[in-house]
Amino acid sequence: MAKKFKLILVAGARPNFMKIAPLMHALENHPAIEAMLVHTGQHYDEKMSHSFFEQLNIPEPHINLEVGSASHAVQTATIMERFEVVCMNEQPDMVMVVGDVNSTAACSLVAAKLHIQVAHYEAGLRSRDRDMPEEINRLVTDAISDLFITTSKDASQNLLDEGVSEAKIHMLGNLMIDSLVEQLEKAQAVELKLTGLSGESIQIDFNKPYTLMTFHRPSNVDDEKTLSLLVDEWIKVSELLPVVFPIHPRTQAMLEKFGLMERLQAAPDIYLTGPLAYFEFLKLMAGASLVITDSGGIQEETTYLKIPCLTVRPTTERPVTIWEGSNQLIKANEIYTQAEASVRLDRSGFGVPQYWDGQAASRIIKLLEQFTALN
Ligand code: UD1
Repeated sequence: MAKKFKLILVAGARPNFMKIAPLMHALENHPAIEAMLVHTGQHYDEKMSHSFFEQLNIPEPHINLEVGSASHAVQTATIMERFEVVCMNEQPDMVMVVGDVNSTAACSLVAAKLHIQVAHYEAGLRSRDRDMPEEINRLVTDAISDLFITTSKDASQNLLDEGVSEAKIHMLGNLMIDSLVEQLEKAQAVELKLTGLSGESIQIDFNKPYTLMTFHRPSNVDDEKTLSLLVDEWIKVSELLPVVFPIHPRTQAMLEKFGLMERLQAAPDIYLTGPLAYFEFLKLMAGASLVITDSGGIQEETTYLKIPCLTVRPTTERPVTIWEGSNQLIKANEIYTQAEASVRLDRSGFGVPQYWDGQAASRIIKLLEQFTALN
């Protein structure tokens, strides 16, 4: 029997898991491709990692590098050191990385230096803002990848503009939307039982309008003045509609460090909870009247769900969510005024980008099959 094509898939942080899940499912028992999952351990908490594996039915990673949290340089270097050993032992034919987290850049660099083919899913996204660690990760990864799988035409165009040859670029759709389409029914069926930060049960009627909010970008939460302004705006917004706010560990740590937590917890219509599992978050998002965030992936999910999304960032690497979808970029001090306007927004103009249809994984597997036949 011919030797199978050995593909290592890399996942490291929360937003990677819903991109990896549909690929792992589609590659299960594949006759020509052997898929191996490597988890770098960049995210490691039950709620940031393990619950996603469980709900998205992702098989246990073959290898967990268990790198944990550290400064960017230390985290990236540790992933590289440990992933190099894996590549030397396993001798894969290709390494596929997804997204733009530190694990993406670290593993692509290791593979490229060992002359292993690198495929980047979600290639070509550009915010043009190099203050974002993710933008650096995208640039580094795309500079050394061999195969570029994009989620939108503008991303493909960015790569062409940077000199990547057209034959290496494939616009095949959005894996995060594959997971959403596959799991929405199951997510809708879960009973939302949220607990507050001290374990108390949260009493809120989810059949009435509410806002869902997430914040975790260093540019928003690591600076005391910005975070304090944000807290003021969040409290004002909660007077408009109750706000459900699952807090990322980084944000919680910063609110505590700057002494802002008490002010936030005193607001009666802000419901703080810890990071949520995928089903719970998806159900909350699908039922929200408005989403306010600084996340990358949530801009895409709200576009698919046609829910108004206010993204508190100066730029986005996902402009298609503005041109075609329900997303809008705003400044921190505009949250209240824009939220007020959004609630009254006409939603009939919201569209969904091409190939954001739940079929991205099968297109990617077809591409890999063509690729393996040629190599
Ligand atoms: C990372 C990604 C970001 C992504 C985000 C989603 C990079 C550069 N950033 O940012 O693109 O949007 O994940 O969450 O890769 N922590 C825990 N438990 C965990 C993981 C982290 O408590 O399981 C805490 C640690 O204190 C850590 C902090 O969160 O220092 C930040 O984690 P880190 O992985 O460094 O970056 P994120 O802000 O999560």
